[in-house]
Amino acid sequence: LRSQNGVFRTELVVARTEVEVAGIKAHMLTYNGSVPGPTWLLRAGDRLEIRLVNNLVEPTNLHTHGLAVSPEGNGDNPFLTIGGGESFDYRMELPEDHPAGVFWYHPHHHGMVADQVFGGLYGAIVVEGDDEIPVSRDRVLVVSDTTLMTDGTVAQGSHSQVMNGREGELLLVNGQTQPLFAARPGERERWRVVNACASRYLRLALPGQDMLLLGVDAGHESPPRGVEDVLLMPGNRADLLVTMRRGTSTFVSLGHNRGSGMMGMMGNADLSGPATLATVVVEGEETPADAGVVPDRVADPDLRDRDPGNRREMTMTMGMGGMGGGMAFGFDDRPFDGERIDQSVTTGAVEEWTIRNSTTMDHPFHLHVWPMQVVEESGTRVAEPMWRDVVNVPAGGSIKVLVDFARHPGRSVYHCHILDHEDAGMMAVVDVG
Ligand code: C2O
Ligand code: CU
Ligand code: CU
Repeated sequence: LRSQNGVFRTELVVARTEVEVAGIKAHMLTYNGSVPGPTWLLRAGDRLEIRLVNNLVEPTNLHTHGLAVSPEGNGDNPFLTIGGGESFDYRMELPEDHPAGVFWYHPHHHGMVADQVFGGLYGAIVVEGDDEIPVSRDRVLVVSDTTLMTDGTVAQGSHSQVMNGREGELLLVNGQTQPLFAARPGERERWRVVNACASRYLRLALPGQDMLLLGVDAGHESPPRGVEDVLLMPGNRADLLVTMRRGTSTFVSLGHNRGSGMMGMMGNADLSGPATLATVVVEGEETPADAGVVPDRVADPDLRDRDPGNRREMTMTMGMGGMGGGMAFGFDDRPFDGERIDQSVTTGAVEEWTIRNSTTMDHPFHLHVWPMQVVEESGTRVAEPMWRDVVNVPAGGSIKVLVDFARHPGRSVYHCHILDHEDAGMMAVVDVG
């Protein structure tokens, strides 16, 4: 799906559909009948006209994760409820100077986000730039996980799975388990990888092949650098250039220890452990065609020259006394309340936010709409401009970001992107005006 004459128009039908997953007839939640939903190809300056048709019995809504668009009205508004059987017309404008990169869409109806994403609702968004690199193949790889019961329904998370953030037994790449990719030696491919898992951290690696990291989220590496692996928190995306060498390699997640709640009492069997994602078979005649240089990329802006007018601190918290005797998740010991404003920001401000994690597990911090530049990770200054929309806040640690509130006044949210934690209350409201 591509925009035409600056307008991207589409209908997204949300329904429960039978799709084949791992040889099982699975009853997944789908956008337009498939898992993942269709990929949107956009350009900066585009106007988006999206009709969301909800054919479920339960409510849902739509969030364009990472896009810097207005959160107001029928924009990227996380407070909307599109009831079962209803439809809604979203309107968004991508600014003329919107960064190129990989983004994604998924539902954001508080309390149901983990269930709906784990059930199959996600799709990729690519904002194409002007410096596209010639490649043999462009692959958009949406990585997700889910667990299917023998009757093909998606498993409900158990209490401890929900507390830790549920991870699925099946790792899917574009809805398939361990797909096979074919290429010829010397070919260069663009891999745009989305971590659409509800809670799983991915540490992507492709041993035996050369991976060049072009960017993560809206951030661009300048110059692009060779990497052995890339850590993607739930919600993050990686933009990679892979040059194929003869042989068979496996695309894997190496695993990441994200800790567990209550000093291990909640059980954390293999949380975000190693997993195989896909197999790459490179054979046949050598192709010298893609040997061209990677064009120079414009360096991302650096907010460190700007004096932050305001500094704030917020802490990701977890304690006893949650609903039904469970854990209480929140920011600053308060669970999410859509009616309360937790942070009031002046439009145009650059602010410095310190996000602390007082718990025994890692939490990926995500802010909607407004771009974040990470300047400090657990006490260590970050050298280069590093733009992210999901940042890991390690157990007991902290991060520091600069946030640019130059545009898009309105109300939106920040939250933990372990979606079970978000649903359990680790989310808060920011109002920019
Ligand atoms: Cu992908 Cu509010 O998040
Ligand atoms: Cu988001
Ligand atoms: Cu969390």
